Amino acid sequence: MSDLKRGLSEAVSAAFAAAGLPAELGRVTPSDRPDLADFQCNGALPAAKAVGKPPRDIATDLAARLAGDPRLAAVEVAGPGFINLRVSDAALAARAAQIAADPRLGAEVVETPRKILIDYGGPNVAKPMHVGHLRSSIIGESVKRIYRFRGDTVVGDAHFGDWGYQMGLLIGAVTDEDAAIASLVEGLNAKPAVDAQDEAAAFALFDEKVSLADLDRLYPMAAARGKSEPEYRDRARKLTAELQDRKPGYFLLWRHFAKVTRVALERDFHALGVDFDLWKGESDVDGLIDSMVKDLDAKGLLVDDQGARIVRVARQGDKRELPPLLVVSSEGSAMYGTTDLATILDRKQSFGPDHVLYAVDQRQADHFEIVFRAAYLAGYAAEGSLEHVGFGTMNGTDGKPFKTREGGVLKLNDMIVMTRDKARERLHEADLGSELDPEAFEETAHKVAVAALKFADLQNFRGTSYVFDLDRFSSFEGKTGPYLLYQAVRVKSVLRKAAEEGAKAGDIVVSEPAERDLVLLLDAFDQALVDAYDKKAPNFLAEHAYKLAQAFSKFYAACPILSAEPALKVSRLNLAQTTLRQLEQALDLLGIEAPDRM
Ligand code: ARG
Repeated sequence: MSDLKRGLSEAVSAAFAAAGLPAELGRVTPSDRPDLADFQCNGALPAAKAVGKPPRDIATDLAARLAGDPRLAAVEVAGPGFINLRVSDAALAARAAQIAADPRLGAEVVETPRKILIDYGGPNVAKPMHVGHLRSSIIGESVKRIYRFRGDTVVGDAHFGDWGYQMGLLIGAVTDEDAAIASLVEGLNAKPAVDAQDEAAAFALFDEKVSLADLDRLYPMAAARGKSEPEYRDRARKLTAELQDRKPGYFLLWRHFAKVTRVALERDFHALGVDFDLWKGESDVDGLIDSMVKDLDAKGLLVDDQGARIVRVARQGDKRELPPLLVVSSEGSAMYGTTDLATILDRKQSFGPDHVLYAVDQRQADHFEIVFRAAYLAGYAAEGSLEHVGFGTMNGTDGKPFKTREGGVLKLNDMIVMTRDKARERLHEADLGSELDPEAFEETAHKVAVAALKFADLQNFRGTSYVFDLDRFSSFEGKTGPYLLYQAVRVKSVLRKAAEEGAKAGDIVVSEPAERDLVLLLDAFDQALVDAYDKKAPNFLAEHAYKLAQAFSKFYAACPILSAEPALKVSRLNLAQTTLRQLEQALDLLGIEAPDRM
């Protein structure tokens, strides 16, 4: 089963071939002028150049060859030699029936499914998630769903940031602040081995004294001191190296940090409808690092550099000089890039992905380029199989990465709460949800909030930065998530009424312009998916969902459903139902869920 564009491309290509012209010029695209045509082919222009004939003559000949195609209601030559195609009502009805009968709503699967790993979310221990993690989570989740829907085997991994310098900073800050903890930790460090009893006692004290709020409070302070005080920084580095050596006291304290952070992270991810197949962290590859360092050394890739050990990755012809990968710091600890490189090895051994996507802020582009090159040099991944799916920042009205009014980073949880408050307000304003009981209203407000945040993010190409504008994002009008939900709910309510009357969907007939437009959009779903997939860019799908919702809205205004005569009624119900299914499918691929009522 193929969409109209592909089916028509085949027909037009065959006409080119029959006319002795290159078949590949017969590619058909949606028309630039929907008022004149549904599809167009521009291939007569290059064909004319090749054979030295006027393009309009070529186009006219091709149009004559196509005229008998029963799918086409009109074939016209326009402008310098464009071939304009208008699809017949019958062909649209047939295509709509195919989509309606298809559990995949007209979407194809990839020819050769691959094993894909998506690294996204990237939360850190003790650093609360902020808007950068929000973008990574939203985009990564959507890309994961799109890849899976197209038939790949996909694993999503949160790649928890739990093994770097920030751990040393935090161990320092917590032990400085609390003498009881400091003495317990030092006592444990002095022991050759800790037993279950030591562990239980330590965790009891940590649970009592060190909450996530403490970590949130201490981390920014420690990070700032690490920047301004070299001694403080050096000590944190040393603590990091000692943690990585698994000094028992530091190691137990670190486990406590990871535990309390994880609870809050899971709450935030859950609220956003983001979930991971794997929740691995940087620390999980710690056991691979020694042997990896030996291997890099044996391969002649490791170079000593003032006490540190690095891999040089610069290449001839680079436009600018790329720094080396820092594998072992002069304190002897593993760095961000070290754990990333070891993670590539780990993934190769445990899952063997054909391709790995990293949905991470564009500002980490160099980091990934360096790590990927080192991985290729060491033979840990096939050249080109690692890909950074970068994205721009979410900005404040000042054009800089979004900050709170106090100038701090906005915590993800605060953003969700704020957006949900706004959603409630918007629902009241629009006089929506008044018939819902309080619990259902809350659930709807939450769905509206998630849709507002996600759609605002996903409607832009990921590389583009955008301005956080909650008023606009949460409006039920315009190109917004709430608008899409509202349209979905409208269709649901029509279908509910029909069900109450006992009306059933039946054969599709197409005649009204609004019906034609709606079917053409239903037909365009596959292309939107292919674009989103190929470019790792959910905005193509977001655009499709928006246009589909708009087309439904126009259809509903122009074509009565429940009051139509029987043949039209069953057809229009079927169109409405199919639209809803495709809209909800597209929304689901964006990670957005529509309520049943509002
Ligand atoms: N934890 C990192 C950060 O907050 C993001 C991790 C991205 N993934 C990776 N494999 N490095 O910046």
